[in-house]
Amino acid sequence: MSGTELERAAKAFRARFGREPSHAAAAPGRLNLIGEHTDYNEGFVLPLAIDRWVAAAVAPAPGACSRLHAADLDETVEADLTGPVQPVGGFADYLIGVAAELAGPHPRRNLDVVVLGSLPPGAGLASSAALEVAFARAVLATLGVQMEPRELARVCQRAEHACPGTPCGPMDQLVATHAVPGQVTLIDCRSLELLPLPLGDTEILVVDSGVRRTLADGGFAAVRERCAEAAAALHVPSLRDADRSLLGGLAPSLRGAAQHVIEENERTLLAAAALRASDAEALGELLLDGHASLRDNLGVSCAELDAIVDRAASLRSEGVLGARLTGAGFGGCALVACRPGTGDALAGRFSDFPTTFRAA
Ligand code: GLA
Repeated sequence: MSGTELERAAKAFRARFGREPSHAAAAPGRLNLIGEHTDYNEGFVLPLAIDRWVAAAVAPAPGACSRLHAADLDETVEADLTGPVQPVGGFADYLIGVAAELAGPHPRRNLDVVVLGSLPPGAGLASSAALEVAFARAVLATLGVQMEPRELARVCQRAEHACPGTPCGPMDQLVATHAVPGQVTLIDCRSLELLPLPLGDTEILVVDSGVRRTLADGGFAAVRERCAEAAAALHVPSLRDADRSLLGGLAPSLRGAAQHVIEENERTLLAAAALRASDAEALGELLLDGHASLRDNLGVSCAELDAIVDRAASLRSEGVLGARLTGAGFGGCALVACRPGTGDALAGRFSDFPTTFRAA
């Protein structure tokens, strides 16, 4: 539940600004079971919302600028949220982007803001989307405005494109606006249709490699660009529309990206079918195949993530079903799917990594 984070945000607001916040809101993180780098190719994703949150507490600012405070970082940035968008770097950019994108017909005002959370930033668990959605919900509350969740997700995705300038797909914001922790959802990123599915009694561990990147670093944008080039070379609107028979005609530099997206869409639909059929073995195999493709076809893994997945694969006799990196890659976390009743013991097998926790 988000209660703890909301209380902590209100308390941190009082400590920082010496008065009560007028509004507070939270949004959850996500663990993507499978369907990686498919969302911005209009494909399929299968995320799970997790019980880790970002919360934002806000109140109208007394002065002519906003004071944006990240309590976990003990960092405050001053910015004018009523003026043109000017990126300043770091967490504040997400708030600046959201404030500008929300503006539209609504009045803009400066706010004192505290954000914090239980979601590690830069770990592939969609902390940016949770930050955007929590802050957007708090701002909308100050305006007394309701927004339909899909529209809110779109606003936050556009905000991230504008500032800090990361060309993310729609998955993370849709999970942050729609999903309930513990809920797996199959999302068709073309129609934006969401279908809840049961995880059953499979247990999920999250192992943090400790390697950090930010999507704003450029690696993510480069992969997205490669996918767009591959789609253009294949004369299809997006890689969602490509099929294997076309791969031979592509330059080797684009072939891996196209192959990954085509096969990852297939894997994601097969994983959804495996969940429906309670076939945890099949799900595990798909996770391992998905990791191999992210590593070999897309090149977004790293040595530490590969080490976690290799170790997991060697622990099948102890209950591991499968494992893969989750999120954009380049660092962050891997997930390990485990047979019922084995997750807690298996967590001990990853104690040399910075953090391991049960997500389901
Ligand atoms: C990041 C992006 C998402 C998605 C994943 C990769 O989390 O924000 O839109 O593209 O990477 O699947």
